[in-house]
Parts: sequence; structure tokens; C-alpha cells
Amino acid sequence: MEIKNICCIGAGYVGGPTMSVIASQCPHLRITVVDSNPERIDAWNGPDLNKLPIYEPGLAEVVAEARGRNLFFSKDIDRAILEADMIFISVNTPTKTYGKGKGMAADLKFVESCARQIAAVATSDKIVVEKSTIPVRTASSIKNILTQADGGQPDGQADEQAGGRMGRGINFHVLSNPEFLSEGTAVQDLLKPDRVLIGGDNEEAIQALTAIYAHWVPAERIITTNLWSAELSKLTANAFLAQRVSSINAISELCEVTGADVDEVARAVGADSRIGPKFLKASVGFGGSCFQKDILNLVYIARSYQLHAVADYWEQVILLNRHQRRRFADKIVRTLYDTVSGKKIAFLGWAFKKDTNDSRESAAIYVADALLAEEAEITVCDPRVSSARIYADLDALGSRSPEENRRLLKVEKDPYDTMKGAYAIAVLTEWDEFKMYDWPRIYQNMQKPAFIFDGRRLLDAQKMESIGFDYYAIGG
Ligand code: NAD
Ligand code: UGA
Repeated sequence: MEIKNICCIGAGYVGGPTMSVIASQCPHLRITVVDSNPERIDAWNGPDLNKLPIYEPGLAEVVAEARGRNLFFSKDIDRAILEADMIFISVNTPTKTYGKGKGMAADLKFVESCARQIAAVATSDKIVVEKSTIPVRTASSIKNILTQADGGQPDGQADEQAGGRMGRGINFHVLSNPEFLSEGTAVQDLLKPDRVLIGGDNEEAIQALTAIYAHWVPAERIITTNLWSAELSKLTANAFLAQRVSSINAISELCEVTGADVDEVARAVGADSRIGPKFLKASVGFGGSCFQKDILNLVYIARSYQLHAVADYWEQVILLNRHQRRRFADKIVRTLYDTVSGKKIAFLGWAFKKDTNDSRESAAIYVADALLAEEAEITVCDPRVSSARIYADLDALGSRSPEENRRLLKVEKDPYDTMKGAYAIAVLTEWDEFKMYDWPRIYQNMQKPAFIFDGRRLLDAQKMESIGFDYYAIGG
């Protein structure tokens, strides 16, 4: 199967960077990224590469190289589907907010609508690639949708026996190719992935996708499996990573009451080559669009098979994360003499991690919500997250009216204004530039005693204390 034209449905944090890197590495392929959100497409096509819809180090350079050559961003979804030999589905799969599985299961309505649109529009053979993170066995549903929407056979088994041939004589082959990039390092992760995972049941289709990655990924890093293993591996990888963060965060609380230092514990534990040093940084809690969503999904799947011990085990990773955010907020209130009412508290950072403008599920949102419930007055400064995004995050919680959120929380551009007159500073994101601030000047302009609550263990404790701050880091 020779692939010349690729379409990617979904121009988000995964679709945009992933297709940009494929385009840069494979100039012979023509890649069109489409999205149902026209503003997003306009932003990808915008003249100012510093204003792409997604901020990722190195992304602007990759887009500059390929855009207009073999990388295109388009609103014409039907045409891109029609012309493509291979279609990546890279749409969002958020936690369901309604109906059966509400708050737990993945909402597959966007994936389903892509499958229906492909079936309705396609006139030639297609390889359909699941790039989105989806529940195990979703490929079976996609195959069925492609079949039925196309007027073909309703039974997936029958289609497989017919070699994927559908009602109008079109061959659809479904592959699972989950994405493992992390935000903030997406371009590097895509250029040098630990592995690329391709699951499928059609050897030719697997080879066609393998051949694309083989342009820059060493063969030994391309793993092929059956469909269900690939789908489940993605959920499992995120669950393991999040579990490590919750494990060290659980220990951080123990450190605080025993006098141990969580960074020292992490270093000692991580030096064991069987454990390894990564993902052992204690924090105010993990955020991001995927860890919680994917574990909830895993828990839901386990429960749907009546595997309650399995479900309970993984659910604890989420419960511990919520506890960590909550206890950070509680510590601020307790330390500020049990009341933060009317007190200005400055937040450094809103993004869920450094080097991204993404704030989905950021711990900052939940810490702010808890402090606003105590009538604190919050000022926020984040180098990349817009004030519109910050207010949208808070409004989405529905804890108070949008007017109230804007009255109690102010977004500042200047860090020194953010902290001026504050009773306390809370470090919520580990942006490097925070370390470079003029901390003696900040101390002078704050209420005394001046507290810092470092939810990222970012700042130098000794330096802060020598300036005069009452410095508290999560994990002792
Ligand atoms: P996103 O919300 O940034 O982007 C998804 C895009 O899909 C949106 O722009 C939306 O408008 C578009 N879309 C939705 N339905 C559509 C349709 N029917 N037709 C056309 N466009 C449609 O999401 P994301 O962060 O890129 O994540 C996408 C998937 O990748 C999710 O399943 C996620 O779990 C997974 N994933 C995300 C990351 C990450 O770092 N963000 C990493 C690995 C995997
Ligand atoms: C994560 C995974 O790392 C990716 O492999 C995966 O593709 C992606 O989810 C996804 O499926 O969306 P991402 O959420 O972008 O990537 O970022 P991470 O670096 O994993 O960080 C997640 C959260 O954990 C952040 O809030 C981060 O600050 C926190 N974290 C991470 C810690 O608190 N401590 C650590 O040691 C590591």
C-alpha cells in the first residue's frame, strides 16, 4: 500500500505537532490537517508563527519548514478525507459529562462522528488510524460504524473475513497508533520517541504506517501488536506514569510530618535501576488533559468487566491526587492564621506544567477554587496562559458566578505587580523564569510575615529563608 496523501482530523495538541513533525520528516507525503473549529485552522494558518494555537518549544520552526510545502491546515474536511490514503483520527476524547458512565467513561462522540464522516465521504480504500486515546476495543466499534454507515454488513466479524471490504467495495483498515508525546516537549518526543506503537490486524496496513515512521525512527523502536494491546497500552502507560506521581506525593505528606526531604527520598529510591529517577518529582498534584481522564476510563472499563479490585487499585491514584491539591490549599489557610478572607494570595503559574499554554485539569484551578471559597483574593501570573483561559477554567467549575470569579481573582502580566502587597505566594507551575525574579524586591513589597508555598519545589529554600520569607515546600 503506497501512502501519498494523509489527512488528520483534529488540529489540537496532538494532531498539530504530530502532523507537523511527520511532514518535516517526510517531504514526499502531502499532509492535510482539518478541524471542525474554523478558528483553530485560521490560527494554524496565521502569518505570525508565534501565535500558533499551541505553544510548544521548537514547533514554530517545524511548522515554518513544512507549512505550504507538504503540510496544510484546512477547513474542508470532506475533501481531505476524499483525497487521503491514510486518515488519522486525532480528536478529543474527554471524560463523559452526561448519561451512562458520566464522570468516568471516555466520551467517544467525536471519534464516532469522524468514523461516520469517513464512511459517508470515502470513495477509495483508506487506512484509518486511531491516534486519539480511546478505550480498549474501540477499533471494533469504528469498524462497525464504517461498515454500517456505509450500508455494509453490521457484523464486524463478517467484515474482517471479507478482509475489511465494506458495503461500497471500499477497503477500510483500522490501526491503533496511540501518541505518547508530553506537552512542553512534544517536538522532541516526536522526533526521538522512546517507541512508536502500532496495533492492527492487517499486515499491509501495519507496514504502510511503519514505513512512514521508519523515515526517522529506528526500526527497533517501532513496536507492532494486535489492536487491543495497542489500545490498552496507552491507557496503561498513562496510569503507570500518574501512579508514580501519586506514589511520591503520598510520600511527600509523610516527609512533612517526619522531617524527611522528599527530593532526597526520590533520589535515593530512583537510583535503583529497577525504579529509575523519572516521574518522582513531588508536586501539588498532576494535571493535564489526560492522566485523570485516562485513569477514570481504565477504572470504568475494569468495573464494566466486574473487576472491582482492579478498579479500586487505579482509582486510588486519582483520589490521592485530589487529596494532594486539597491539602496544599488547606496548608495555606492554616498557616495564614486560619483565615485568608480578604487576603491577597499571588499565584505563580496556572499551566499544568511548564513550557505549555495548556491549563486543562491544572492543579492551580482546584487550589484557586478552594481558596476563593475562603474568600481569598487571588492574583495570577503565568507566562503563557491567557486571562480568558484562566477565567474559563474557573467558570467551568461552576462554584460561583463568573462576575464573582472576576471580582475575586485578577490576572496580571507583571510578576512584581502580581506579588505586591500579597500575604503569600503559591508556586503552582515550575516555570524556570520564576527562579530568576528579584526575590529581595518581592519580599520588601509583601505583607509580613511573607509566606511562600512552593507546590513545585522550584525555589531555593535556603535562599528564600535568608531573604526573610517563611518558605514552605511540598514534601518537607
Ligand atoms: P484537543 O482538544 O487539543 O484537539 C482535538 C481537536 O479535535 C479540537 O480542535 C476539536 O475541534 C477537533 N474535533 C473534535 N471533533 C471533531 C470532528 N468530528 N471533526 C473535526 N475536528 C474535530 O485534543 P488533544 O489534546 O490534541 O488530544 C486529542 C487526543 O489525543 C485525545 O484522545 C487525547 O487523550 C490524546 N492525547 C493527547 C495528548 C496531549 O498531550 N494533549 C498526548 C497523547 C494523547
Ligand atoms: C502525559 C504523558 O507523560 C505522555 O506520555 C502522554 O502522551 C500524555 O500524558 C497524554 O496522553 O496526554 P503530559 O500530561 O503532557 O504527558 O505531561 P507530563 O509530563 O506527563 O506531566 C503530567 C502532570 O504530572 C503535570 O502536571 C506534571 O507537572 C506532573 N508531574 C510529572 C509531577 O507532578 N511530577 C513528576 O515527576 C512528573
